[in-house]
Amino acid sequence: MQDTHNYIEKNKQRFIDELIELLKIPSISADSAYKEDVLKTAEAVRDSLQKAGCDTVEICETPGYPIVFGEKIIDSNLPTVLVYGHYDVQPPDPLDLWNSPPFEPVIQKTELHPEGAIFARGACDDKGQMYMHVKALEYMTQTNQLPCNVKFMIEGEEEVGSESLEGFVTKNQEKLANDVILISDTGMIANDIPSITTGLRGLSYVEVEVTGPNRDLHSGLYGGAVANPINVLAKMIASLHDENNHITIPGFYDKVEELSSEERAKMAEAPFNKEAYKKALDIDDVYGEKGYTTNERNSIRPTLDVNGIWGGYTGEGAKTVIASKAYAKISMRLVPHQDWKEITLLFKSHFERIAPEGVRVEVQPHHGGQGYVTPIDTVAYQAASKAYEKTFGKTPIPQRSGGSIPIVSLFEKELKSKTILMGFGLDSDAIHSPNEHFGVWNYLKGIETIPQFYHYFATMQE
Ligand code: BES
Ligand code: MN
Ligand code: MN
Repeated sequence: MQDTHNYIEKNKQRFIDELIELLKIPSISADSAYKEDVLKTAEAVRDSLQKAGCDTVEICETPGYPIVFGEKIIDSNLPTVLVYGHYDVQPPDPLDLWNSPPFEPVIQKTELHPEGAIFARGACDDKGQMYMHVKALEYMTQTNQLPCNVKFMIEGEEEVGSESLEGFVTKNQEKLANDVILISDTGMIANDIPSITTGLRGLSYVEVEVTGPNRDLHSGLYGGAVANPINVLAKMIASLHDENNHITIPGFYDKVEELSSEERAKMAEAPFNKEAYKKALDIDDVYGEKGYTTNERNSIRPTLDVNGIWGGYTGEGAKTVIASKAYAKISMRLVPHQDWKEITLLFKSHFERIAPEGVRVEVQPHHGGQGYVTPIDTVAYQAASKAYEKTFGKTPIPQRSGGSIPIVSLFEKELKSKTILMGFGLDSDAIHSPNEHFGVWNYLKGIETIPQFYHYFATMQE
């Protein structure tokens, strides 16, 4: 592998400009008002793959947003890498907390990104990280160094649960056949502490509705005499954790994988600065399940969090009212062996059971997915590790992440292949938050590291 550095130096301004163009399209999959933009983004991704050297690229229609599929097969005897990514983004709101408009990318220096970071929705999650693969392919084809076959599958519904992708993967096993799946949609510890993500948590997402009286009531005339759905909901939610912050749903922990003390000791070797963590979030202490460290709480332990709660009067001033209904959206992050459908049912029956007299409770399951763990004793992991050694000058630390990419476990089930999660973002890049950004250094480092992975993966095969 030669000249990656030179190629990037020569082309980096164009690489940045092209990404900025892609970031300008508001491909918000959750909001149907942006349908045309989501479709336009699929076309832009198709065009970019064509230009980067794919032999064939197609926009595959689905019941939802299309999947862009491209490939370059140089020799059917060589291994095949399947790159997965997503071109859809999260809604940008609350808009007033952005320092610059979410779809008008700007480059700004930050403490952790002294060489500048691109600020825009999707900069890191996942347009920026997905586009690194497009540019890495361009480099390998332009310099005649693509060492194996490559396929791309870039979807537009990841942020809303990858519903159409499931059918697409199940129906297209041959088309998607590969030796390893490569994804950049996670993060690493720090720019000087490279890490490879070896685990993702599963997810169960539900919405609950508590109904009391058949209409909103005067809180003086009726207050104290009927169940207030908001009071009740708050109490029910509070009861889902005990004083040690363990989740109280019966059976919730039954299948949780308990790590050995050796594995936990190994995890604890990963650098973690608690003071810096607290300072970055402006909190005076961390919080969580008793008996576990912060890094364990956010990766190997399951959690339950309210993501939104509403009901009653929230406008200006005061209105004396007992609402008829209260609502909450709740996510549970799961760990290996917990089955998301089973957990959803456990939640549902528990939540219905703890409802007091005087209210009705409904639990509506949303999407979910299984967790995933990548083995590190494989050629693919070793190839990734060597790639980082080459470009970062350090062996990357294997680290489990707390986030979820539910489709990864489906890939394993349907396509029978392992996934390598080479993420180049930082936790502080504010994905899903206002002022999301992606370091220019990280973007270029990704473009530099990916071809090394191809090189080692192709040459290390027996
Ligand atoms: N890229 C993220 C997941 C992620 C980020 C994993 C950082 C590890 C580190 C992905 O786009 C995402 O946001 N996933 C959702 C789940 C999905 C079903 C909406 C999540 O984790 O909340
Ligand atoms: Mn993502
Ligand atoms: Mn996301």
